[in-house]
Amino acid sequence: MASHSIAVLLCVTILAASVSASVSATNRKVGIYELKRDDISANFTNWGATIISLLLPDRHGKLADVVLGYDSVKDYMNDTSYVGSIVGRVANRIGDAQFKLNGTLYKLVANEEKNMLHGMWQNRFSNVVWKVKRHHNKGPSPYIIFTYRSFDGEQGFPVDLLVTVTYSLIGDKQLSVSMKAIALNKPTPVSLAQHIYWNIGGHNSGDILSNEILIFGSHFTPVDSYHIPTGEIASVKGTPYDFLKPHAVGRKIHMLDHGYDINYALDGDSGVKLMPAALVYDKKSGRVLQLWTNAPGMQFYTSNFLKDVKGKGGFVYQPHAALCLETQGFPDAVNHPKFPSTIVSPGKPYSHQMLFKFSTKSPSA
Ligand SMILES: *[C@@H]1O[C@H](CO)[C@@H](O)[C@H](O)[C@H]1NC(C)=O
Ligand SMILES: *[C@@H]1O[C@H](CO)[C@@H](O)[C@H](O)[C@H]1NC(C)=O
Ligand SMILES: *[C@@H]1O[C@H](CO)[C@@H](O)[C@H](O)[C@H]1NC(C)=O
Repeated sequence: MASHSIAVLLCVTILAASVSASVSATNRKVGIYELKRDDISANFTNWGATIISLLLPDRHGKLADVVLGYDSVKDYMNDTSYVGSIVGRVANRIGDAQFKLNGTLYKLVANEEKNMLHGMWQNRFSNVVWKVKRHHNKGPSPYIIFTYRSFDGEQGFPVDLLVTVTYSLIGDKQLSVSMKAIALNKPTPVSLAQHIYWNIGGHNSGDILSNEILIFGSHFTPVDSYHIPTGEIASVKGTPYDFLKPHAVGRKIHMLDHGYDINYALDGDSGVKLMPAALVYDKKSGRVLQLWTNAPGMQFYTSNFLKDVKGKGGFVYQPHAALCLETQGFPDAVNHPKFPSTIVSPGKPYSHQMLFKFSTKSPSA
């Protein structure tokens, strides 16, 4: 069933003519869509509402593609690392692949030991064709809007859900990502994540261990051996998770099993206002990335399980080739009443904003 539908989509892709400007709302072909503003440009595909490239200048103005990806859209259909895509309905792990909502027990399909990670293969948001609602690559804030209607029972979750993801290039070298969802007639858990693999030195520049990072999270959610939160919200003080003062990603990574794969409880009040979540600096290129969000949590993942993945231009990605800054609700929040709620109800739509601000710094600064 799954492989059959993938085969059909592959044909659709091959038939899809090259890159188009905008397609009609009903058109479900898979294409590549560009946004360009000043010296920044980004390409997207409606397969998984994925960002496939982002060209950014270094301190000398030299452009590099700073996100990992594949050469063709076809390769994204085979991807198992969620490279550049939108993850949902519920990103991250759900313990025992089940949860209770208003007295009903919902059983999901376990896909990582006994738990669910990032939704199941079929119909997970990174693995479906999104509708291109609008593509406008002109003016001061070029943007693209992807929509997806997730049906009641999809992946085991209740209720039809209308999902909208908008990417736009705005202001002075900024990428905005807006994720919205409306539950049609009943509550359901929603926690989307944008799964870009960042290497601001260039996607093919090697590992990110020398990148300096600052994470605006003085607490994290410790996990058990299955990566399921214990429910505790612990201080980062005295742990390798403390990035309150910027330092190299690799400095204490050897203290962890495979690398970083942990949720931070971001400081400040989540909700409507954007707050700083992380700042990454690559000394060699001078590129700086700042991430702002209104989400309560951020999974920091150092691509521990990328191995021999054939990426763009034939470059092969290995562990720590990139870092992921996945702002989201807390993992397994559906089973932890003390975590910020990830339940979305008809009168209370989901709205998750990310703002990436790019700049450069001279070596002495
Ligand atoms: C983005 O897409 C445009 C249009 O297809 C293409 O000309 C350009 O080379 C692509 N950019 C990257 C970095 O792949
Ligand atoms: C998809 O993955 C399978 C198994 O790893 C591989 O044999 C196949 O060639 C891949 N297809 C594409 C289009 O990359
Ligand atoms: C919870 O379940 C009850 C009984 O089935 C129902 O009447 C009520 O509308 C439900 N509440 C929500 C928020 O779905």
